Amino acid sequence: MDNGFPVHIGIIMDGNGRWAKRRGLPRVFGHKEGVKAVRRIVAHAAERGIKYLSLFAFSTENWNRPEEEVSALMRLLNDYLQKEINTIIEKGISLKVSGRISMLPKATQKKLMDAVEISRDNKRMTLNLCLSYGGRAEIIDAAAQIAKDVKNGILNIEDIESKFSDYLYNPDIPNIDLLIRTSGEQRISNFMLYRVAYSELYFTQTLWPGFYEDEFDLAIDEYMTRRRRFGKTDEQIYDKGQI
Ligand code: IPE
Ligand code: IPE
Ligand code: MG
Repeated sequence: MDNGFPVHIGIIMDGNGRWAKRRGLPRVFGHKEGVKAVRRIVAHAAERGIKYLSLFAFSTENWNRPEEEVSALMRLLNDYLQKEINTIIEKGISLKVSGRISMLPKATQKKLMDAVEISRDNKRMTLNLCLSYGGRAEIIDAAAQIAKDVKNGILNIEDIESKFSDYLYNPDIPNIDLLIRTSGEQRISNFMLYRVAYSELYFTQTLWPGFYEDEFDLAIDEYMTRRRRFGKTDEQIYDKGQI
């Protein structure tokens, strides 16, 4: 027996800049084309019955890019929210946001919070947009809150291990089963550090704007052939009773 269907897929959507550069265009054209890929993959993931889809859209480190690129990305995010919120709701998707949201422009924060609120009860799929997101920042923010709660007598030190994940952003979102990264880079770049501990990794040379439904399906097929062991033996997981 192999793996079941992935519950939570994470995607590091990389390669927009290179996509544009190869066509002799400014980087922002790649980001625009990247938004189209977001639309089709979100729709397709919901159709495929994926329960949680986390998209790495902007990292804490991406704030250090040239100012015009950062503003262009913020504008694109605004447009995306404006145009997509109805589709998200129609498709029964619930929107969540992970990251240091207070660093985003105020108007964007408001749009995000409104979209999260109105889509809250949707059950088909959770779309977790990771914005101004850093895996280390998430762990540090959790540690700071844990320190406060211990100091105020709300949490016992002995319970930190079992309660730790309750302090992550959107604690209801489970560990990532399948992590996809486009553009040929084979690194995590500070994405979901706590939740990728046992993720299956799928790397592809395809640049994000050229990522289509068929390759998403291919990644799922590949995932389903992998044998996850979580530190146990193969027999413990797959051939119960045949040790
Ligand atoms: C991913 O594409 C989008 C963001 C990080 C916002 P990049 O902009 O990193 O594209 P490359 O890696 O430079 O090609
Ligand atoms: C990771 O891509 C972040 C996002 C996709 C949002 P980067 O392009 O920022 O990663 P590095 O710098 O190549 O590691
Ligand atoms: Mg990149």
